[in-house]
Amino acid sequence: MTRRPLIAANWKMHTPPAGFADGAYRSQDQVEIVVFPTALHLAACIAAGIRVGGQAARSEPHGAFTGDISMDMLKAAGCHYVLCGHSERRQHHSETDADVAHQVTAALAAGLVPVVCVGETQAERDAGRAMDVVRTQVKSLPADERIVLAYEPVWAIGTGKTATPDDAEAMHAFIRSLPYRAETTILYGGSMSAKNAQTLLSQPNIDGGLVGGASLQPAEFAQIVQAAV
Ligand code: PGA
Repeated sequence: MTRRPLIAANWKMHTPPAGFADGAYRSQDQVEIVVFPTALHLAACIAAGIRVGGQAARSEPHGAFTGDISMDMLKAAGCHYVLCGHSERRQHHSETDADVAHQVTAALAAGLVPVVCVGETQAERDAGRAMDVVRTQVKSLPADERIVLAYEPVWAIGTGKTATPDDAEAMHAFIRSLPYRAETTILYGGSMSAKNAQTLLSQPNIDGGLVGGASLQPAEFAQIVQAAV
């Protein structure tokens, strides 16, 4: 890791874990920590001194979109970041590369740092198409180095299966070789845990992690943060 490490906690549709305000999720000098709670829990996290981001938002500034929120609303609520294109959004909300690109443009305009998730399915990896898929996803994004990328192989999310450090590093190096991504912060996500964080985070092109399940245990999350320091 050469860039300042960033460890992100994606709490998905879970309530904040017991003891979340006790310190495990607060940024430190050597490592930035950001939590993505539900929109309903942003204020409680901010009150606890935690840097936060929204899990998703629309690109339109306002309008007749029942149940949705805008990038400006996240910014006004105190967010620094927003997740865009998580595979669960692509799958359950049919978000396309074009939708994600619009969200990223809106996020940057609102003054948020977009963390954009990319990654191949198991079938795409088996067919030898992993890099093609990721290249297409990354190339559909605006040419802007403020964008943070998260390589999250879909088959590794919530499954306990993790990309090997070599495979993850190869994909991260590939992403970094694409236009406008030389200086990009690139996170790894997909069953990152206290057990595997050290080897993943010691790869030269892996700048941090986007952690789901293991981020719901403050003690385990603290160990992952420690591995990034
Ligand atoms: P996981 O989730 O760590 O539970 O695999 C990661 C993510 O979905 O961002």
